[in-house]
Amino acid sequence: MTTIYKTLKKDHEKHRELLAKIAETSGDSPERRELYSKFFYDVSAHAAAEEEAFYSPLMKTSDGQPEARHSVAEHKKLDDIMKELMDMDMSSTGWLTRFKTLKHDYEHHMEEEENEIFEQARESIGGDKDGDIAETFIERKAAERKLVDEKAEDALQH
Ligand SMILES: [Fe+2]
Ligand SMILES: [Fe+2]
Repeated sequence: MTTIYKTLKKDHEKHRELLAKIAETSGDSPERRELYSKFFYDVSAHAAAEEEAFYSPLMKTSDGQPEARHSVAEHKKLDDIMKELMDMDMSSTGWLTRFKTLKHDYEHHMEEEENEIFEQARESIGGDKDGDIAETFIERKAAERKLVDEKAEDALQH
């Protein structure tokens, strides 16, 4: 049976790989554009689903609440940098510098989730809800992705 922890970790692995690949790209290349937009949409959907499926029940526990609040605040900060990079000229030298800040901050965020928050959540939420939380996460993330794809299609048509 899959657990929420395995599911989130699998996403994180994918994000780490994309971060490493993007750091190797240069200038306003199709490669950088494609990899960054893949990263942007997947992390956005991941964070939204993570908040709804995982942080929302953790927020309701007294022991887990501070961690949940901390992580959700980090999501907001990461989202701001991600959007900034999306709007920035990808050929400018500043892009990679800013991207490296994002890479550093997001890697730190994932590490904290995996090494500290999951441990806390296992205690606070308990193992019996694992499967349900994983299912909610997968459904919510798919719905988020669908929304993004529809918007992208819309943008192409107009
Ligand atoms: Fe997160
Ligand atoms: Fe995460």
